[in-house]
Amino acid sequence: MCGIIGILGTHEVSPQIHDALKRLEYRGYDSAGIATLNKGRLDIRRAVGKLINLSDILVHDPLPGRSGIGHTRWATHGEPTVANAHPHRAGRVAVVHNGIIENFRALREQLEAQGAEFTSQTDTETIVQLASHYLDEGMTPTQAARHTLEQLEGAFALAFLFEGEEDLMICARRGSPLCIGHGAGEMYLGSDAIALAELTDRVTYLEEGDWAVLSRSGAMIFDAEDKQTNRPVTRITLEAARIDKSGHKHFMAKEIAEQPSILQSAMAQYVGNTPDGLNLPETLDFKQTDRLILVACGTAFYACQVAKYWFEKLAGLPVEIDIASEFRYRDPVLGPANMALFVSQSGETADTLAALRHARRHVGQVVSVVNVTTSSIARESDVALPIHAGPEIGVASTKAFTAQLQVLALLALRAGWQRGVLSAEGCKARLAELRLIPGFVAQALDREGEIRNLAETLSQARDVLFLGRGTMFPLAMEGALKLKEISYIHAEAYAAGELKHGPIALVDKELPVIVFAPSDALFEKTVSNMQEVMARHGKVILISDLAGLTQAGDVPYRVQMPAIPEFIAPFIYAIPAQLIAYHTALHRGTDVDQPRNLAKSVTVE
Ligand code: M6R
Repeated sequence: MCGIIGILGTHEVSPQIHDALKRLEYRGYDSAGIATLNKGRLDIRRAVGKLINLSDILVHDPLPGRSGIGHTRWATHGEPTVANAHPHRAGRVAVVHNGIIENFRALREQLEAQGAEFTSQTDTETIVQLASHYLDEGMTPTQAARHTLEQLEGAFALAFLFEGEEDLMICARRGSPLCIGHGAGEMYLGSDAIALAELTDRVTYLEEGDWAVLSRSGAMIFDAEDKQTNRPVTRITLEAARIDKSGHKHFMAKEIAEQPSILQSAMAQYVGNTPDGLNLPETLDFKQTDRLILVACGTAFYACQVAKYWFEKLAGLPVEIDIASEFRYRDPVLGPANMALFVSQSGETADTLAALRHARRHVGQVVSVVNVTTSSIARESDVALPIHAGPEIGVASTKAFTAQLQVLALLALRAGWQRGVLSAEGCKARLAELRLIPGFVAQALDREGEIRNLAETLSQARDVLFLGRGTMFPLAMEGALKLKEISYIHAEAYAAGELKHGPIALVDKELPVIVFAPSDALFEKTVSNMQEVMARHGKVILISDLAGLTQAGDVPYRVQMPAIPEFIAPFIYAIPAQLIAYHTALHRGTDVDQPRNLAKSVTVE
């Protein structure tokens, strides 16, 4: 979490830093701040809350200077206050930081014993206090930065700016991503390429443990052993990093709406003239794989849960699935015949990355399904498969979910083909079903009006239950997560058959119960569970196709989905799950794109 940006520019940098922070706000929005060197002196503006609050301050109190650093915060140590906002400063040093300094308490005690006066509750302040201490001992800025870095434990990315040093910025990457941008007589650094998108298309990704000394003429990069090293300059496509709402009220609305086109164009990248019709890397070997281990967090985890059904059914491949934050702490039994597959939109989720690094030491193949192809997870995988969803800015993941599902479905087909469970014809028949998705998703989007009306009722609820069986169970969990995170209504999901084992006690006439039930092999069983809810006066909202709605009879609320092949149902039912959350949040007047307490990219464990 937290976004950082630094610029050694040829003009005033604070407007550019401010714009970059706008692009980084998805990483956190508890506070924002900028520091520049104004005639060689450090000058800082900070504000609590969203960037707009900092913008207001800058209008009345601009920040001159051609060298500067900026930060947008997701609070870890210390509540969101001005004192805890970055940049932090001590003496002649200012720092912006993303990540956690695990040994900050010990460092702080040591510094306080030496007379340092802390003004915040953050772990970050220990970094500036340390660097300032070393400067006071007579070290050069570079020596002070290097000695400071040696003292720090944890995962972080950070940047130092030193008073009186107009042509110097020092940055370091350990555990959290950081890239350097190259301009004409200017140099930049940022948490990701999106931050640098409007500044340059030439970017160097720092490797784990790297630190770098930047001047306007270039960057000297040092590896974890302090040896000077070269890292390649890559070209980023500015188009991919361009961000706008395209006329929609929210990024989330735009991202929901663009699913048909994204799924269609992403699919085009993965079909080929091969026996199974799939254009996937030949190095992917499901034949020698005895167990597939799926690991992810949040929405990506629910995509994995759907995929488990596919890999088992279509490929006969045993699947184990884990929430990333639990994976490595349960001593999973791993071996060389296992394939570990990590799913992450951002590719930077700290728990997923840590799980990947753990698995890498034991399993035969490490595969990832990512949206950000330059991310740490992509770069540390044997095979990284892009979902081609384009930047997802809304904190609630929508298009990334269906795009992840698509790549996972294709992988399940490839696995089925390689393992001899699916014939070439069988594989191509499934592929043909997948190609129907954009059209059906568009039809599901057409039901938005009904969902909008329904959302008014839901917005009054204190709790909501979501039910489903088979692949509709993870869909129910995804629906509950979406509703919780943007409308702040408590929601839970259950496998429909599990309801009677306890949660049914919650049902009364106030409780909305949303049931995902396409008319498939499990329909009748799900409907029986739905009847159990109705018998207890629960407010059932049935989401099904015409046949299902007809068969279910009298149900208080209903939303009609198109009739679809069972295999692709998760893609289509994701749409009402997303729209229900979106419209309920609108009714409640919450901040849909930037819900409280959350950040888009969770880069702390
Ligand atoms: O970037 P990732 O896919 O690794 O992120 C995983 C979760 O943090 C993410 O899906 C989160 O749960 C979303 N806010 C859900 O909408």
